[in-house]
Amino acid sequence: MSRLEISDLITAVDPAGRRLPVSRAEVVERLRAAGDVRAARLVAGLPADPDGVLDPAAVDRLLIGVHTELQRLSEELRIGDRLVQLLGPLFAAIRSTGAAGPYRLVDVGCGLGYLVRRLAATGALGPRVELVGVDLDAALVGEADRLARAERLDCRFVHGDAFALPEAATVYVSTGVLHHFPEPALAAFFRAQGDSPALAFCHYDIAATGLAPVGAWVFHRARMRHPLGRHDGVASARRAHGDETLLRAAAASGMRPLLYEPRRVANPFCTTLRPVLGLRPQLEAPLRRELGRAARRLLGPEQFAAAAR
Ligand SMILES: C[S@@+](CC[C@H](N)C(=O)[O-])C[C@H]1O[C@@H](n2cnc3c(N)ncnc32)[C@H](O)[C@@H]1O
Repeated sequence: MSRLEISDLITAVDPAGRRLPVSRAEVVERLRAAGDVRAARLVAGLPADPDGVLDPAAVDRLLIGVHTELQRLSEELRIGDRLVQLLGPLFAAIRSTGAAGPYRLVDVGCGLGYLVRRLAATGALGPRVELVGVDLDAALVGEADRLARAERLDCRFVHGDAFALPEAATVYVSTGVLHHFPEPALAAFFRAQGDSPALAFCHYDIAATGLAPVGAWVFHRARMRHPLGRHDGVASARRAHGDETLLRAAAASGMRPLLYEPRRVANPFCTTLRPVLGLRPQLEAPLRRELGRAARRLLGPEQFAAAAR
C-alpha cells in the first residue's frame, strides 16, 4: 500500500504560507502511480473548477472535518494527559535551572490546536507559560483560533512558519508532524531548533511498531467517518519514523537527543504516540529528577543501544 497521505497532496502553500493552486488530475496521477487506486478515486471525486484546480474552500472544509474527528480520537486515547506527563516535568526542570521566564511553548504544525487549547484550559504547565500554536495551513490555524476564542482561552494561534516567528520559543513541541518529513528534511527540522535559543524540543509522533498500522486501521475504521481520515491514518502509521532514525536526526540539532518510551521500554499495545526530545545539556539532570521513577523510560543513544543488545 502507498505511504502517501491524501491531505499532504490536496493542499499546497509557498514558504510564506500563501495558498497555491492544486491540479486534481496531477494528484490523481501521483496516487495512481504509487499504486493507491482507492485514494486516487477519492481525490477524483473532490470538487474542482473548470480548469481542474481543486476547490480550496471544499478542501479546507474537508480537512477541518477530518482534523476534528482526529481530535476526538486524541481525546479518547487521552493523548493530552500523556503529553502533560512529560511536558509538566520538562517545564518544572526549566524553572529549577533558574532560566528567566516567561516561557514560550510553540506547537509546530498545530492544526486545530488541540494540544495548545488543552494546555490553556487546564493550566497544566503552571504560570507564566505563553502558549502559541503555529501552522502553515491558514484554514486549520484559523479554526484553532476560533475555537480558542469561543472557549476564552489564554493562548494564541499564528498562521505561518513556526521557525520564522519574531520571538523565539523556549520549548518547541508538535504532535503527528514528524512523519510528514523524509529523513533529510527531518534533520533540517531539528537543526533549526538547535540553532535557535530554545532550551528544548519535544516532538510526539506515531510509534513505529509492527502493530502501528493495524492499530491505526482499527481505531480509524471505528472512529473516523470520512474515508480520507481513515486512509491517511493508516498511511501515517506506515510512514512513521523508527526510533533509530529519530535519535539520529535529533542529534543533528546539536542538543542532547533522547527518546521517551521507545520500543523495548514501552508496551507496544499501549504506546500510540511517543516523543523524541532535544535538551540543552544543563536540563537533562533536572528533568530526570522531576520525572522520578519514570526517568528510566528516557533513553539517550547510548542507553538505547544498550537496551537493543
Ligand atoms: C498532520 S498536521 C498535524 C496537526 C496537529 N498537530 C494534530 O495533531 O492534529 C501537520 C501540520 O504541520 C504543518 N507544518 C509543517 N511544517 C510547519 C512549519 N514549519 N511551521 C508551521 N506549520 C508547519 C502543516 O501545515 C500541517 O498542517
